[in-house]
Amino acid sequence: MAKDLSAIAPVIPIDRLDTLPLHRQIWEGFRTAILCGHLQPGQQVPSSRHLAEDLEVSRCPVLGAYARLLSEGYFESRVGSGTFVSASLPGQLPHRRRSRSTTGGSRCLSRRSSLLPRCETVPWRHGWGPFGVHQSALDQFPFAAWSKLLAEHGRKPRLRAIHHNDPMGLDRFRDAICSYLRTARAVECDPSQIMIVSGSQQALEITARVLLDPGDPVWIEEPGYPLAQSVLLGAGCRIVPVPVDDEGINVSAGVNLLPKARAAFVTPSHQYPLGVTMSASRRLRLLDWARDNGAWVVEDDYDGAYRYDTPSVSSLQGIDSDARVIYIGTFSRVIFPSVRVSYIVIPPDLIERFMAVRFSLGIFPSYLFQEVLTDFIRAGRFARHIRRMRALYKERRTALVESVQNTCGDMLEIHGAAAGMHLTVTLPLGFNDAEIASQAAKYGLCLWPLSPCYMNKPRHGFVLGFATTPADQMAGAVHQLWRLLKKQPGPS
Ligand SMILES: Cc1ncc(COP(=O)(O)O)c(C=O)c1O
Repeated sequence: MAKDLSAIAPVIPIDRLDTLPLHRQIWEGFRTAILCGHLQPGQQVPSSRHLAEDLEVSRCPVLGAYARLLSEGYFESRVGSGTFVSASLPGQLPHRRRSRSTTGGSRCLSRRSSLLPRCETVPWRHGWGPFGVHQSALDQFPFAAWSKLLAEHGRKPRLRAIHHNDPMGLDRFRDAICSYLRTARAVECDPSQIMIVSGSQQALEITARVLLDPGDPVWIEEPGYPLAQSVLLGAGCRIVPVPVDDEGINVSAGVNLLPKARAAFVTPSHQYPLGVTMSASRRLRLLDWARDNGAWVVEDDYDGAYRYDTPSVSSLQGIDSDARVIYIGTFSRVIFPSVRVSYIVIPPDLIERFMAVRFSLGIFPSYLFQEVLTDFIRAGRFARHIRRMRALYKERRTALVESVQNTCGDMLEIHGAAAGMHLTVTLPLGFNDAEIASQAAKYGLCLWPLSPCYMNKPRHGFVLGFATTPADQMAGAVHQLWRLLKKQPGPS
């Protein structure tokens, strides 16, 4: 190859205003030119001095870029001849050009990932405002105390614990959770049964991997929590939607549909999304079914801390005499979702299996929030915050119920207002909840449609969060909702 020709530099776009240093821009320019085939293996590149002159930069960044390209194997230097694109690089590099579309050839993906709903950017999931679900009154959170604890543990971490910790989580944190669960949720447990995980999704993922094989049938509530459906679909399970009535999951209907399911996923304290509390007789029926069929029950107790008109309802796990219930709890509702700390209460004989799966998935949970939450609980701040929020949310819940009854009573039927941070309203036939929810942002509302919670024939309505809207602003928000509903074409 003639030296004078091959030593022509590729176009290297230098931008002096860019925050990216010049040596990175030069390195990137050459690497892209090689990968795109603009520079061929064996082709000579200009000397660092010539390139610096061409680019009107000092030699220093060029030398830095060349050194990196040499060490990465894109360049080679030949004594007495100069610097070349490595002759050993494969000749047909153009196909390595990054492309967003495929050019043929099979790209086999798993069938189970194709079953998952698309992770779309929908206004309700990403919006903020009246009626947003999974949103708590963050302006009421004791951030001063929280950040003091964060700073303390950030400054003085326990060195052994930050290096590596137990796949089950920090001991003192598990002790604190155990005391809380025994007292507040009547969960039968010992700290050794508690595993800390990052979010209820991960809790269910680990549980599914321990208990279920691809193809195993699982009862889920219909309507139910879409993210639980996703985890189970992702695990390759066969989902069996079992209708929910005003006593919770209808066990007889489940038995008619598929008695030999391997597990049932339920939200007994506050069914998501309908808000029903599972009756005592249903709980016992479900546990009997599980025992008689060798099945498991997964209890998601995501917001059991908040109940307004009656004393709190204890866990299903607490009345299970056959160690068939896997209990999942979370700090997302009481602290905030991005804390990503949840826990599983595991039947004693399954602990080892859970640990093995947990280790394979994420080794162990992140350290800092475990320490902070332990102190937060031990100092009584957690219990105090729940008490305060219970009073506040009760007031907001009542304001929402009254406003809906007064303003939209002819259109919306209220369900499940006794607990939690949301209630559900159903629309008359003929209305499309997702379409209305998409328009809601213009009205400053964050409406969550009900229909995506169904796997089969959906009912349309909304899951209405009430935690973030002050009671005296609730009527205004409901009025906006009413104006939006009035604009709809309605039943055809
Ligand atoms: C039914 C249900 N389960 C669990 C959770 C909590 O999920 P995570 O712990 O992943 O934030 C939520 C939302 O707060 C929920 O609505």
